[in-house]
Amino acid sequence: MSAQFPVVRPRRLRRTPAMRRLVAETRLHPGDLVLPLFVKEGISEPQPISSMPGVVQHTRETLRKAVYDAAEAGVGGLILFGIPAVKDGRGSGADDPAGIVQKALRDLSSEVGDATVIIADLCLDEYTDHGHCGLLTSSGEVDNDATLERYASIAVAQAAAGADVVAPSGMMDGQVAAIRSALDQAGYSGVSIMAYAVKYASAFYGPFREAAECAPQFGDRSAYQQDPANAEEAMREVALDIEEGADMVIVKPALTYLDIVRRVRDTVHVPVAAYQVSGEYAMVEAAAAQGWIDRDRIIHETLTSARRAGADIVLTYWATEVARSLAR
Ligand code: PBG
Repeated sequence: MSAQFPVVRPRRLRRTPAMRRLVAETRLHPGDLVLPLFVKEGISEPQPISSMPGVVQHTRETLRKAVYDAAEAGVGGLILFGIPAVKDGRGSGADDPAGIVQKALRDLSSEVGDATVIIADLCLDEYTDHGHCGLLTSSGEVDNDATLERYASIAVAQAAAGADVVAPSGMMDGQVAAIRSALDQAGYSGVSIMAYAVKYASAFYGPFREAAECAPQFGDRSAYQQDPANAEEAMREVALDIEEGADMVIVKPALTYLDIVRRVRDTVHVPVAAYQVSGEYAMVEAAAAQGWIDRDRIIHETLTSARRAGADIVLTYWATEVARSLAR
């Protein structure tokens, strides 16, 4: 009789909530989450983003409140995106000391001080009238090396305004080295770089382009963002960014690239972040609004998957809500 029944029973460790909690291999913690936030110049009320229900373009005032709430919930960091009132070919608003992100960064460093980490997304697409992440040549291609000079200047402006971390997301070759040397020369050797090392040319960024008003006016980003078909290329990008001085690396999007998160985690010795992007958020919110899925469980499951795949940090639009739910 005993032979026909199993002796080893993994189910013993799943019997009760307390037992499952004890043996859980992966945990979510507010301190591992980073909240992306949008701040727009020249608006007096927060503007809803139709494809991201629950997310808004903030005014400087409502941004302070959102940041206060996030810090109070224990959220580990914030990443800030600015939307200027006026755009031009070179994205002048991006490194203007009086530009929207620089103003907001100054507000935030006084508001939350050392309670959370203030990260500035560093790119040009929100600031250029053509919507590309860099300067264009006369034939309309993104000019890698001319763009590096712009990024260097933006990094210094963001550091001067109080960013703890800058996060270059434009996928120009050499951007981390250019930014590191500019920061060091300007006396900001303590400001770290969270590099979007792996950033795929993904359709999952669709809703973000509404939020940040940065859809390319012609063409797409495939000549600088990565081909979803490639994994080795991602490893090459990560190696280069670390060589150039990245202190942390981001893999983006999260859900469809968890294999890459795992490979990066197993290969490097810096913190690895996964960015759960706007399209991932929108899919869940849309299905939940229909009553088709259990919203809260899916949010926890997707975040847990990113952590299980090896992400030390997860960027998510649900950061404050999830942090609060974890505290309960
Ligand atoms: C570029 C940038 C993008 C996102 C973050 N930084 C958009 C893009 O590359 O088109 C997308 C984030 C998201 O979809 O949530 N500055």
